[in-house]
Amino acid sequence: MSSADHLKQQAAARALEFVTSGMRLGLGSGSTSEAFINLLGTRVRGGLDVVGVPTSERTAQLARSLGIALGDLNDLAPLDLDIDGADEADYQLDLIKGGGGALLREKIVAASAGRMIVMIHGDKLVKTMGAFPLPIEVIAFGHIETAKRIAAAVEALGYGKVPMTLRHKNDAIYKTDSNNVIYDVAFGPTMADTKSLATALSCVPGVVEHGLYIGIAKTLIIARDSGIEVMDRS
Ligand code: 5RP
Repeated sequence: MSSADHLKQQAAARALEFVTSGMRLGLGSGSTSEAFINLLGTRVRGGLDVVGVPTSERTAQLARSLGIALGDLNDLAPLDLDIDGADEADYQLDLIKGGGGALLREKIVAASAGRMIVMIHGDKLVKTMGAFPLPIEVIAFGHIETAKRIAAAVEALGYGKVPMTLRHKNDAIYKTDSNNVIYDVAFGPTMADTKSLATALSCVPGVVEHGLYIGIAKTLIIARDSGIEVMDRS
């Protein structure tokens, strides 16, 4: 197992300590979440009684294959816990998510949970976010026009012209589980006032959701070679 995989396992094992029988869980997406879901599957086979709401089709498939019961968010909300990964986190526990393309369902599920627990490795904890390009999910209809409006909104906030890339996969335009497209916006590691940025992006017609999670995560599990640190939002 690579060192990165080992850290994901460590973070996932720590997250599992928050889970008790009877809980309704949001199940995140991405490789760290998959490490968690694999561990959860082992516990479920050992008798742990939980039901999950998956944040992506891929997560649903994995959870089903492991025998984890799944349900509809409309029936199960509010969830007890949502457990997910992130692409970047800062010391206020704000996040950039969506590198795996599941940011929309991930945010809906996180918002429906009493507590969002986020698992990362130490390199993802930064003073100022933005080194990881911010994913913005946009409805496919007229997406080029929407991208121009995003660029204008970003410029109006004083960021200047930031590179925006329409996400592709296997030479085709990437489509999310909700059939939208994603623009990855490379702000660079000096993203100031993420709250204003989040508000401005949410106001752009055509933007379905953006990967800034402001004030949503309650607990951050940080895995480093030196050990695990748990940070709680104060
Ligand atoms: C998917 C996400 C993931 O949580 C994020 O990309 C982290 O993934 P990984 O655990 O593979 O590093 O936001 O939309």
